[in-house]
Amino acid sequence: MRIGVSLPDNLLDKFDEIIEKRGYSSRSEGIRDAIRSYISYYEWMGDIKGHRVGIVAVTYDHTKRGLSNALGDIQHHYTPLIKSSVHVHLDHDNCFEVIVLDGDGEKIKELAEDIMALKGVKFSKLTTIASNENI
Ligand code: NI
Repeated sequence: MRIGVSLPDNLLDKFDEIIEKRGYSSRSEGIRDAIRSYISYYEWMGDIKGHRVGIVAVTYDHTKRGLSNALGDIQHHYTPLIKSSVHVHLDHDNCFEVIVLDGDGEKIKELAEDIMALKGVKFSKLTTIASNENI
């Protein structure tokens, strides 16, 4: 199946740079691989259950209208889950934030998905491990 996708130039440049470094024979092959890893990450997220500790790491452009507020709103909505957070101003526009979580796995996943869905979030990654109670 053929699909058409609009992407910002810098995103495509970066992607092309990576697939060249990794030795992909074509952009399509790189895109197929990226989609597979997106799907497997999503399926892995489906297995996050029970009491967990974890982190969500996010990079985003704080100059995007409403984004900092939206991120703040999400964190206030999940206050009982959040133990701590670290904010690093990367450069003029970009921020890096790490949110430390402890609580129900399903809730942690929900929070991570809410953050990932925000427009202007450039990168986000959830990592969790079972807390001692589950081992
Ligand atoms: Ni910042």
